[in-house]
Amino acid sequence: MVPPRSMFAPASHALAEDSPGAPAQASQELQAGLLAPSPHIDPKYLYDRLGSSLFTAITLLPEYYPTRCEAEILQEHAADIAAHAGKVEALIDVGAGDCVKAERLFASLQPRRYVPIDISAGYLQTAVQRLQHAHPDIEIMAVCQDVHDTLDLPHAIPERNRLFFYPGSSIGNLDPGRAARMLARIRAACPGGGLLVGVDRVKPRSILEPAYDDALRLTAAFNLNLLRHVNQLLGSDFQVDDWSHVAHYDEANSRIQMFLQAQRDVLVRWPAGQRRFAAGQRIHTENSYKYTPEKFRDLLAQAGFRDIQHWSDERGWFSVFSARA
Ligand code: AVJ
Repeated sequence: MVPPRSMFAPASHALAEDSPGAPAQASQELQAGLLAPSPHIDPKYLYDRLGSSLFTAITLLPEYYPTRCEAEILQEHAADIAAHAGKVEALIDVGAGDCVKAERLFASLQPRRYVPIDISAGYLQTAVQRLQHAHPDIEIMAVCQDVHDTLDLPHAIPERNRLFFYPGSSIGNLDPGRAARMLARIRAACPGGGLLVGVDRVKPRSILEPAYDDALRLTAAFNLNLLRHVNQLLGSDFQVDDWSHVAHYDEANSRIQMFLQAQRDVLVRWPAGQRRFAAGQRIHTENSYKYTPEKFRDLLAQAGFRDIQHWSDERGWFSVFSARA
């Protein structure tokens, strides 16, 4: 048996400092967000170990359709997608989580290397260990990084024939301006290569809102868990039961917004500061932008991609785009 080659970026590489785990930087960012006139917490802090597990559970909910739609598209159109992607030297998974989506593409894409990137190091490590045993012939190099800020890949990955995989409509967390910049960064990192990206589509509020406010309240737990993670990182004293989960479809901007809303007047303290929140006041925790295929195609073109194709599920709820760099 081939030993696992799961490899986290060597210490010499700048990756570790870029992770949200870098404590001083995280504290600063969290404090600035909490003290802002419209308080906010970056959604990357949703993904500690428990948060990542809760998100995986969310993907199994009947209300949360994106994961199933995307899996259906990737399975249904696997051959066309592989043909459009061409030869894949390295499959670079931006926001890998449990790596399950990419693993399903191994058979059709036949990548020589797999590079999963995620901000939750512990979660990624567990996934990679399992994966390396299941696929001893693929060289796996895991990277812990927030891809929304930086794209800093190990030098060992050749530049030729890279395919970036950005599944799950995670790009929806970014406003369209930031999304365009991130796509441009990806394009610059894969000359001659390509991108495969999943995008959630504009649809009626009656479908969107339950997907982000489910009957079992898993999404509420996922959002509220953010406060426990912030307490750990910042040393704050948020009481989870002082807060409630709010999800709202902002139709004018075609985005779901998630908030944590104070249920009573609360005072939150941390070593370097404090803030009072009045009952009803909200902390913004996530945007999830929805696109029409036309709008997303424009975004890809704006970022310099060409030869843009897309596939949808039967209901037209989700799209997978493939584009050449
Ligand atoms: C992982 C960012 C794609 O926006 O649908 C799920 C996160 N938030 N339920 C999404 C999420 C609430 C998810 N993404």
